Amino acid sequence: MLSLKEAKITMSLSSNGLVSWMLRLILIFGLYLCILICLFFFSYEPKSLSTDTNLSPYDPDTNVSHLVIGIASSFKSWRYRKPYIESWWRPNVTRGFIFLDRAPDYKHLPWPSSMPPYRISEDTLRYNEFNKHKVRHVIRITRVIEETYNAENGDDVRWYVIADDDTILFVNNVAEVLRKYDHNKYFYVGMPSECIDSNAAFSFKMAFGGAGYALSYPLARAVAKNLDLCLKRYPTFYGSDQIMHSCIADLGVSLTLEKGFHQIDLHRDISGLLSAHPQSLALSLHHLDAVDPIFPTMNRIESVNHLMKAAKVDESRVLQQSICYEIHKNWTLSISWGYSIHFYEAIIPSSILQVPLETFSPISRMAWPIYMFKTRRLLNHSCEAPHVFFFHSIETTEGSHLEMIYIRSSPRGLPACLSTGNHSADHISEIRVLAPIRRSNEDRSRRECCDYVGMSMNSATLKLRSCMEVETFF
Ligand SMILES: *[C@@H]1O[C@H](CO)[C@@H](O)[C@H](O)[C@H]1NC(C)=O
Ligand SMILES: *[C@@H]1O[C@H](CO)[C@@H](O)[C@H](O)[C@H]1NC(C)=O
Ligand SMILES: *[C@@H]1O[C@H](CO)[C@@H](O)[C@H](O)[C@H]1NC(C)=O
Ligand SMILES: *[C@@H]1O[C@H](CO)[C@@H](O)[C@H](O)[C@H]1NC(C)=O
Ligand SMILES: *[C@@H]1O[C@H](CO)[C@@H](O)[C@H](O)[C@H]1NC(C)=O
Repeated sequence: MLSLKEAKITMSLSSNGLVSWMLRLILIFGLYLCILICLFFFSYEPKSLSTDTNLSPYDPDTNVSHLVIGIASSFKSWRYRKPYIESWWRPNVTRGFIFLDRAPDYKHLPWPSSMPPYRISEDTLRYNEFNKHKVRHVIRITRVIEETYNAENGDDVRWYVIADDDTILFVNNVAEVLRKYDHNKYFYVGMPSECIDSNAAFSFKMAFGGAGYALSYPLARAVAKNLDLCLKRYPTFYGSDQIMHSCIADLGVSLTLEKGFHQIDLHRDISGLLSAHPQSLALSLHHLDAVDPIFPTMNRIESVNHLMKAAKVDESRVLQQSICYEIHKNWTLSISWGYSIHFYEAIIPSSILQVPLETFSPISRMAWPIYMFKTRRLLNHSCEAPHVFFFHSIETTEGSHLEMIYIRSSPRGLPACLSTGNHSADHISEIRVLAPIRRSNEDRSRRECCDYVGMSMNSATLKLRSCMEVETFF
């Protein structure tokens, strides 16, 4: 028999044992829980605000077939926007829908197969009790993402791309760019406006809807599930993209910037902007109705179709800037592939040529500075004003090279630049640009370097090649 004292000791010992055993259990359990939580957050953490364009592909096989595109339109506007949509929509390849507020009338039926299939937006009457939006269709347009998700959400969908009916998309480039991101995580990919004013009014971290933007599958699902809550939470917002941005921000996801999306909150001649495209695949153009035709000798629709001719032979090169020097004449040529060549009678470094010539004006001048980027003034000076050439035709796609011809837009009307040696380029009326045909497994997002090959009569020839690791200036 144990004495009382001994019993107390044993008890305290055993209870000590019990306590330490329990402590250990709690510790182990806690550690386990901690690891679980860490793993959970780690795997759900969205990669955000990444501007690195050189990430290695995450989903190397993502292609156009994995995208579902939702286009916001209306009974009134689709007819005028039809040619823009037809310029990039690829029947039986691109997937998605155009959303109208009511069915097209008999004059427009049967629905053209060159267009995305149409859907009639669901009724929005049930939102009336809290709807205080200034713009009539804003709830309907915001719901395009939900209705697109509800219409197509099979295993083979990786991304939802939302655009307006006046958005031009370069769909292969969009797929190529989205490859960098894990479609199983939360991603919101797009770009704000060019104008500080527009961003100040909405958000500097918002993907502008007209430029187009992409949501990964799980984010689109989460947005679709929460959309009614968001619509109630933000009953006065101006734009559907603003509601969408707030809704996504409330889910804890921030914008991933992709420089190739272009809202084009601009007027007049945007050739200065398009001739100095950032080194990033061109993904979209918007508001082409509101600016001058991008090729001065054509109307707006012809212009878009003309740019698409270049896109058809190599979408990844469209608008990509390459710079060529002819040091014996002190010439610099800045190519925007498939679009323009700016020919300067002086040696001008890339750092300057990357700054767009301000040929355009903003939709509003309320803020100062106006643009999110620097611009160059267009000076009427022999040594600073370029001779301007535009993409004209594709000479041949046979063999191993593409040959593109650019022709002079108009006489420059200035004497030769004297300080660089009086080497006039007035007689050059045509420029040929050769480029190796790229294999499908090549890294298409890489910048290309350019060599001046020579001149015969009134035609100069340039040749693109992949850049060496480090290119020296000369
Ligand atoms: C896209 O990839 C899938 C495989 O993931 C393939 O079945 C499909 O044919 C591809 N589509 C295109 C347009 O290349
Ligand atoms: C698209 O597919 C449908 C049915 O598969 C076919 O009838 C139609 O001609 C195709 N359209 C184009 C433009 O290839
Ligand atoms: C540019 O300058 C030239 C003479 O140096 C003049 O003839 C021409 O009209 C000017 N152009 C513009 C747009 O000011
Ligand atoms: C190029 O321009 C520089 C002045 O910027 C000049 O000194 C040089 O002689 C010019 N070269 C030729 C080949 O004209
Ligand atoms: C510049 O070249 C043109 C044509 O070759 C010539 O007529 C002119 O005299 C030259 N100007 C100067 C200042 O050398």
